[in-house]
Amino acid sequence: MTTLAMRKPHADRGMEGMVAKWYASNTAEMLKEYVELARRISNEIPEGSSVLEVAPGPGYFCIELAKLGSYSITGLDISHTFVKMAAKKAAEAGVCVDFKQGSASKMPLQNNSFDFLLCRAAFKNFADPVGALQEMSRVLRPGGRGLIIDLKRDASPDEVSRQVDGMGLSTMNRILTKLAFKTMLIKSAYTRQEFQQMLAQAQFSSVDIREEKIGLEVAMTK
Ligand SMILES: C[S@@+](CC[C@H](N)C(=O)[O-])C[C@H]1O[C@@H](n2cnc3c(N)ncnc32)[C@H](O)[C@@H]1O
Repeated sequence: MTTLAMRKPHADRGMEGMVAKWYASNTAEMLKEYVELARRISNEIPEGSSVLEVAPGPGYFCIELAKLGSYSITGLDISHTFVKMAAKKAAEAGVCVDFKQGSASKMPLQNNSFDFLLCRAAFKNFADPVGALQEMSRVLRPGGRGLIIDLKRDASPDEVSRQVDGMGLSTMNRILTKLAFKTMLIKSAYTRQEFQQMLAQAQFSSVDIREEKIGLEVAMTK
């Protein structure tokens, strides 16, 4: 999906829009996950925090977080289609989130401007992952924290299948999602060791990588 999202020519925009709509409706079926993640993060950050989501797609996490407190929330996504869609969803939900278009490896954002950032289900798609980590460090305030949540390439196929079954998706979306995991997503994901090597090239004061069943949580402090 992201490869499509990153292409510029207009001929690809129609396809990008279709894929974005499919992703948005598929993930809407797992809204509970975004609600839980927003609750978890909201418990970890003080009111008034400045929060960035890198690559928010349809914007579900940002919108759910905005419902929970007075945060200043920005979402930065490379896809014009997703930026428009997320802004519309935020307006419909009656919350204020600043969705901007731009690349994770060249963020149109000031140095030292965020207390917390999240990047979920997107890092494996970035064309310049080290550049994205360096940008994450640049835009975080000293002491600010970042969290990357993504798949791991060494996830077992059986476990992937079990996890997709547990996502609460409709039958068709379950089949398509399993196919996407198997043919694209797991293959483009990173291992813990690869993350460690990339993180060594970015300026964080501490890093903690936690392995989950099919994914990794990479916590970084500037
Ligand atoms: C699978 S979606 C994940 C969306 C959202 N984080 C979620 O959890 O539902 C991946 C997103 O990454 C975005 N993306 C891909 N490459 C990017 C880049 N270099 N900079 C910013 N966003 C990017 C895509 O446009 C897409 O919205």
